[in-house]
Amino acid sequence: SGDKEEDGNLTVPEWACQRVARLVHLNKKLTDAIEVLQEHAELRDGHQDYSRALAFRRASCVLKSLPFAVQDVRQLEGLKDVGGHVKRVLSDLLDNGSSSEVQEILNSSWYQKMKLFTSVFGIGPSTAKKWIDNELESIKDVKRNSVRSSDWRVIWGLAFFEDLNSPVLRSEADRFLSIVQQEAEKLLPGVIVQLCGGFRRGKSSGHDVDILLTHPKEGSELGLLHNLLLALEKKDLILIGHKEKSSFRQEILFQDFKLSMRGQLDHFEKWLGICKFPKSFQEQRLDSCLHNDDSNSNSNCLSDHAAQDLDSVKHCEHSEADTQTQTQGNSQLHKASQEKSSEGTVPTCHSLNESFDGTSYEPSAKKAKCGSSLDACPDDLADSERDWVARRVDLIIAPYSQYYYALVGWTGSKHFNRDARLYAQKVLGLKLTSHGLFDMAKKEALPSSSEAEVFHHLKLPYRDPEDRNC
Ligand code: GTP
Ligand code: MN
Ligand code: MN
Repeated sequence: SGDKEEDGNLTVPEWACQRVARLVHLNKKLTDAIEVLQEHAELRDGHQDYSRALAFRRASCVLKSLPFAVQDVRQLEGLKDVGGHVKRVLSDLLDNGSSSEVQEILNSSWYQKMKLFTSVFGIGPSTAKKWIDNELESIKDVKRNSVRSSDWRVIWGLAFFEDLNSPVLRSEADRFLSIVQQEAEKLLPGVIVQLCGGFRRGKSSGHDVDILLTHPKEGSELGLLHNLLLALEKKDLILIGHKEKSSFRQEILFQDFKLSMRGQLDHFEKWLGICKFPKSFQEQRLDSCLHNDDSNSNSNCLSDHAAQDLDSVKHCEHSEADTQTQTQGNSQLHKASQEKSSEGTVPTCHSLNESFDGTSYEPSAKKAKCGSSLDACPDDLADSERDWVARRVDLIIAPYSQYYYALVGWTGSKHFNRDARLYAQKVLGLKLTSHGLFDMAKKEALPSSSEAEVFHHLKLPYRDPEDRNC
């Protein structure tokens, strides 16, 4: 990763996806501060803020892969991703132990409220801003002022705010994963069930559980998600969720990226929802290391970074910006479409009578309990005495021919994906998505039958998931 050349100039590979970025690194104090600036810029969401946020992100990313702890900004000479602004902040931090600019942001009530409101499932910066404009200060305020959202994510996200904002532990992810593995194997022998997201990158806690499923016999995965949800429902593990049909069509692959993605990250069949995790899932089990079928995913059993990344748990939007947004100044238009999809245009019209086959899904037990009054349901349930915790879960189904691209995409980190997609486009002239790698000119796909092959096609050194934490 980082190297001192003979002339004293530091060289770091140009692209983040070419570097090694670990969860535990030597410059955490610095990157935490820079990430506050980044987040602040992201939340401001103005015309220039997007590229500002990206610049901060790039800087913190470089700092993460340095092989030494920075003690003086002069050590950063020659790093083009660390600009003057960042250098000023870093010298403040190194000289005085803190940065007034960062401190000011952390102390500002606008930032605090934005962070709070955008941590509600389904809420992005634009709704959060509206709430602030309406003088709402707390989640209580939001609930009391009965901001009547028709988005199921917001309704349930508010009702279970505390649950969903407390970190999901590794042990919970493992316990849930093994149930999904068991049930899926019963339904479809030979199924591959893979824990992705932050947990696969070695985090010991997260904001949700991401599980990717596939089967080597292409096509046999059809119907799996439906049946799996029924099985989980039978085990009383499901609270609420939304099943999205696959919107994948062969024709869209070679369409303009921006058109084909429409503010979504991919076209897989998936279920985004909230599950009921028994509190007993939080107990560490000695055999928890044995539950993973993937050699990469159990790094946490060996080294536990709980203390370090517990506070970095964060809510993320799943209709998040795709790689194109960061690249150029056309972000305004693009952003508008993302915001839409992240804040309510997903078909959410919620009827308790909707059948399981529909896209929305209400557990049967609650139908009986709540009658037709939708609004009262989640709150009553949240307030009731219960032996479970509400947890965000993403279940994604990938056809095997796209699986390894989906695996890279759903493993992240988000920044790793963005960087890799931009790199693929700029350096190789190829389009990288969670569905594959495409040569748009030749109208050719470059299939992969392993993660290593994905990296090989990208002409990138292979990186273990733990090394993709940029
Ligand atoms: P925590 O959940 O907070 O621990 O972090 P995480 O890295 O797991 O984030 P998250 O669950 O939001 O996303 C997991 C990975 O999947 C990230 O790398 C995202 O870039 C990626 N991801 C999230 N949503 C989508 C999506 O809709 N499509 C695709 N292809 N990838 C997604
Ligand atoms: Mn996740
Ligand atoms: Mn997720």
